Amino acid sequence: MRQFLIIYAFLVILVLVVFGFRGCKSSNPPLRIFSDMDEQARFHPQGKTSFFSDGRMDRPPVPGTVPFVTEMQGTYDHLSPDNRLRESGYLATGRLEDGSYGDGMPIQVNYDAMLRGQKLYDIYCGICHGRTGNGEGVVANERYGFATIISLLQTRIMDQPDGEIFDVITNGRNTMGAYGSKIRVEDRWKVVLYLRALQRANAASVEDVPAEKRGELGI
Ligand code: HEC
Repeated sequence: MRQFLIIYAFLVILVLVVFGFRGCKSSNPPLRIFSDMDEQARFHPQGKTSFFSDGRMDRPPVPGTVPFVTEMQGTYDHLSPDNRLRESGYLATGRLEDGSYGDGMPIQVNYDAMLRGQKLYDIYCGICHGRTGNGEGVVANERYGFATIISLLQTRIMDQPDGEIFDVITNGRNTMGAYGSKIRVEDRWKVVLYLRALQRANAASVEDVPAEKRGELGI
């Protein structure tokens, strides 16, 4: 028993010695058991070294390096994040002041907007909802088994106000992910615009074809 008490007291003191003074101020360097994470051999920005003949740690790009970001910018500008997720107002949320969804385009509607919407729809939505909106994109059902994808041409979606579709793109819904951080605010409205065109085209009848063109359809 005495031996046990001695060992016990010794252990208590050991624990206090090792852990007891953590958080106390000290001007001594810290005790580090494994220091290799702190003290690894590395180059610092704008540091000096004797390893390279010019003495610089920063290395210039290898001769012939092509600055590809600058060249590609035009092509990928839709990827710049412009979330404005914290902004309020119809343009950024699709909702009116009373919190309900609004209807109507808060951006200028023209052919360029439509083309832009088509491009982004084909990139971001077509894989699931299909290029025509019929819900048969490559990821859907038989091909890759994403079972809950729906057709956007159904009456329920056609009847949704523009603001609600904008909100679905921004925040996602149920099993659909959010695209607010991928597509800019104005561009999201252009996707809604193009989706409206797809829905309209799908619901078209012979009356929509100009009389003089109907012959070409064989009707
Ligand atoms: C990764 C697949 C996927 C992509 C990409 C996708 N969606 Fe969806 N979307 C879904 C699924 C799945 C649902 C059904 C959600 C549910 O109810 O579970 C859905 C539902 C919807 C709905 C109906 C929401 C409702 O009220 O039921 C709309 C509108 C919609 N998507 C628009 C879009 C648009 C526009 C894009 C492109 C920006 C897009 N989706 C991209 C999978 C996707």
